[in-house]
Amino acid sequence: MLSLKKIQQPIAEELAAFETKFKQSMQSSVPLLDIITQYLYKQKGKQMRPMFVFFAAGLCGNINESTYRGASLVELLHTASLVHDDVVDDANERRGFFSINALWKNKVAVLVGDFLLSKGLLLSVNNNEHDLLKIVSEAVEEMSEGELLQIEKARKLDIKEDIYYEIIRKKTASLIASCCAAGACSAKADEETIKKMKLFGEKVGIAFQIKDDLFDFGLDDVGKPVGNDIKEKKMTLPLIHALNHTTTAKKRYIINLVKNHNEDNKKVAEVINFVRASGGLNYATEKMLHYQQEAFHILEEFPDNQYKEGLKQLVKFTTERNK
Ligand code: IPE
Ligand code: IPE
Ligand code: MG
Ligand code: MG
Repeated sequence: MLSLKKIQQPIAEELAAFETKFKQSMQSSVPLLDIITQYLYKQKGKQMRPMFVFFAAGLCGNINESTYRGASLVELLHTASLVHDDVVDDANERRGFFSINALWKNKVAVLVGDFLLSKGLLLSVNNNEHDLLKIVSEAVEEMSEGELLQIEKARKLDIKEDIYYEIIRKKTASLIASCCAAGACSAKADEETIKKMKLFGEKVGIAFQIKDDLFDFGLDDVGKPVGNDIKEKKMTLPLIHALNHTTTAKKRYIINLVKNHNEDNKKVAEVINFVRASGGLNYATEKMLHYQQEAFHILEEFPDNQYKEGLKQLVKFTTERNK
């Protein structure tokens, strides 16, 4: 099994320095905020996005101060988006611990998310990182659009496969794409290279979210609630595929469960079993691997070195991870 620790080796020193900077970037003199940001810092996640920033910068030039700011910026915005996401999804667990909304309620979580967002803005503006801010802000715009599109579709339950890809491209892949673009930009890469890196990140990001959606149908503890997508009426790829390959009657029956019985654990389990039995998980896995291949393909255009190898491993990890 690939471990993140191993993948991190070529940039271990940079990541250690990043930790300190990232922690500082969240500081506040307001006691409640300080308690919460420390809590967030203690349960830090995999920090894959900063890794994408560093590897992309190394691949396209040199890791420098701008790269560090890009890494902090994306991790701040990522953290903000998760704090808000758990309010939106009514999820009480994140990274194996209680979510912010579970402990401090929605009001506080909304404001903490805003605080983190503003910290990211200030970090960029105070250091004249206009280009980085533009790259990342475009991603944040798309993330909100993706989340709203998802809500709209959850209300109507009429989602098709192409809309699913649009949702995950916006809500998840855009930020990972911006990590790769920001890394390249910090290393002063030319426009074409930045674009290529961005597209690479987008492919990885789509594979990343398909993997995340597969977790929801699994039995493993991934540090956040499983079955929650169905409870939130989120139609993800395995379910969409299963519904498209069944009888009209069964489709109507399952949609009714998702629509009107999503609070009932037994009924949610019935939906999950239906998806498992109809090959929905295999289909989604195939699609995930397809996007992964596309990402590998883009990397081939870059010279071989330890950073490219790091990105390759990170792409592999995206689909093999267990949390
Ligand atoms: C979770 O991202 C949000 C999604 C886009 C699915 P990660 O799985 O990278 O979250 P952490 O930071 O490691 O917890
Ligand atoms: C990913 O969405 C989070 C964002 C893009 C903001 P999900 O709601 O699908 O992710 P998890 O499973 O809660 O991490
Ligand atoms: Mg969500
Ligand atoms: Mg969620």
